[in-house]
Amino acid sequence: MPASPRRILVTSALPYANGPIHIGHLVEYLQTDIWVRFQRAAGHDCLYVCASDAHGTPIMLRAAEQGLAPEVMVENYRREHLRDFTRFHIAFDNYHTTHSAENRRLVEQIYARLQARSLVEWRNIRQAYDEQARMFLPDRFIRGTCPVCAAPDQYGDSCEACGATYSPADLKDARSAVTGSTPVQRESRHLFFKLGTFEAELRRWTAGGRLDASVAAKLEEWFAAGLRDWDISRDAPYFGFPIPGETDKFFYVWLDAPVGYMASFENLCEARKNTKHPIEFNDYWSPDSRVELYHFIGKDIAYFHTLFWPAVLAGAGFRQPSGVFVHGFLTVDGQKMSKSRGTFVAAATYLDHLDPEYLRYYYAYKLGPGTEDIDLNLSDFAARINADLVGKFVNIASRCAGFIHRLAGGRLAAQLENPALFAELSQAATGIAASYDAREFGRAMREIMRLADRVNQYIDERKPWVLARDPARAAEVQAVCTDGLNLFRLLALYLKPVLPHTAARVEAFFGAGALAWADAASPLLDHPIAEYQPLLTRVDPAAVTRMIEASRPPAPAPAARETAVTQPAASETIDLDTFLRADLRVATVLSAETVDGADKLLRLTVDAGGEQRTVLAGIRAAYEPAALVGRQVVLLANLKPRKMRFGTSEGMLLAAGDEAGGVFLVTPDAGARPGQRVR
Ligand code: MSP
Ligand code: ZN
Repeated sequence: MPASPRRILVTSALPYANGPIHIGHLVEYLQTDIWVRFQRAAGHDCLYVCASDAHGTPIMLRAAEQGLAPEVMVENYRREHLRDFTRFHIAFDNYHTTHSAENRRLVEQIYARLQARSLVEWRNIRQAYDEQARMFLPDRFIRGTCPVCAAPDQYGDSCEACGATYSPADLKDARSAVTGSTPVQRESRHLFFKLGTFEAELRRWTAGGRLDASVAAKLEEWFAAGLRDWDISRDAPYFGFPIPGETDKFFYVWLDAPVGYMASFENLCEARKNTKHPIEFNDYWSPDSRVELYHFIGKDIAYFHTLFWPAVLAGAGFRQPSGVFVHGFLTVDGQKMSKSRGTFVAAATYLDHLDPEYLRYYYAYKLGPGTEDIDLNLSDFAARINADLVGKFVNIASRCAGFIHRLAGGRLAAQLENPALFAELSQAATGIAASYDAREFGRAMREIMRLADRVNQYIDERKPWVLARDPARAAEVQAVCTDGLNLFRLLALYLKPVLPHTAARVEAFFGAGALAWADAASPLLDHPIAEYQPLLTRVDPAAVTRMIEASRPPAPAPAARETAVTQPAASETIDLDTFLRADLRVATVLSAETVDGADKLLRLTVDAGGEQRTVLAGIRAAYEPAALVGRQVVLLANLKPRKMRFGTSEGMLLAAGDEAGGVFLVTPDAGARPGQRVR
């Protein structure tokens, strides 16, 4: 135990319970778990709680899609998430849910306190409403044409094509992503939290060194832009907590989600009651609490955690976080995770192919305290694990253990051969501990591997395998290998927060109890060791490839790929929104001609309503070019232009037909005008 053990409460963001945990999420849960394990090994009293984030519109709609009650779906995902986390050795003290009695009570208490201090007020606002689904639409559920660059099918709040942000009312031909209908504007009463009144308090909190420099700089920008009051209510239908005293009004998910940290902790207090380690809710959450509180989060949710959350806590008379630790996003081979590239790897899929400790080490190697994105380079991954963990670390034990059994009856020598080297590794403990504490995991890993290099160098110099040939030098072999194994033990201790499973096996091998940071000071001597079992095996790069393959969406059936007309299986349906993404329009053929060298094609120029398009169509066998001029057709206008040997085709004409022969162009009834949309 250190002189004065710290009391620390740690959280990771609560993952939404509407889909599986993936390797992107794991950056956060592994970063947190490593930090927590370090604090515990250093003798501090460190608790780690998390929960499922169970509320909100996306959860409600996803449950409907799955044909489940939202309560049932979130509980299914909660179990699945906890199972995946556990298999990655993430050791929560509690994993609760925001859809819980504790959370509801706490949210109601916070609301009552905010009300009593006039920190919330009701106001009328206008919002997009889907009359068919009879619900208000969050910005993300409105899609349409970007008002700035005219890119089709963009979100209601921002354009992925040009990066513009705007209000959903500015979107051109806005549609509801729920039903495809056109949203209308409707007025409703909403509850606002007066964030602006907390500016001075938040600035003081921010200046207290609780945030990394880049996060503090981001906050400066937000202060400069002005703190806008925050809408914390939603209209029915909604999956969340009803607002007391109101009908059909619910608390917005982002109000109750961080309160879930407190609720999970309260649930833990209850479980610890009448045990040897009881804990008191108020010790941790009252304004004068001496406990340190840290939230680990991703950069996308920093606003919620560094502005809304400290303000709500202050407004409701609770303590504020001691720090918010913000990490960047995972990229794979330098790019955003992608379903089609197979880099959107679910935690469970990873585990089908690879050891969880490989990923723990790789992320640790890449992580620092900042908000930069971290890259998983798939070829570097196997190379890094094989070079460091297998080639440097485990190698030491496998080189030394056998000799201790063969020549020394399985017992470590009574003295160190090279106390100076032991002292060097032992003294490194302070620096490594400081790196862990500062979330400089990459720096800690590089330092540990540098020390492993020193140990291997020492063994290379003393060559126990050569000494062992001379029976007279058995004691010397035992001495060198005793040193090697003691140095290995220190490295295992330093890696224990990252490799808890391997460290446990190393502990069993030495049979001297659990390794704690204080053990760095003294060697293990005149002590029996167990038979050595290989600890970690090399990563087969083919296993990485198989994992990526398994994460790719299934390829279309081969039969369907070969025929010109691909049809979805009879059982496969698409939603209206998918269909409406096809821009089908009436067009008039202006000219038609044969194409030299292409006996199946005609080159057509069509009037698609104010614009002309050139289309290369495979209809020459069925139509005389001259007979087509003036005729109306249906054009798929937003098909990506296709470069062909004979020119570029800027769309496609709808026609019936099959391999048996015949092509039959589709024509609207008389009266249709070019440019009219076809649905
Ligand atoms: N439910 C909210 C958090 C509420 S906390 C009171 C949420 N959930 S999430 O499932 O979308 O994300 C959970 C955490 O994982 C967030 O901190 C998020 O930043 C992190 N990550 C999700 N995808 C990630 C990557 N691709 N890379 C790194 N972290 C990522 O947000
Ligand atoms: Zn745009």
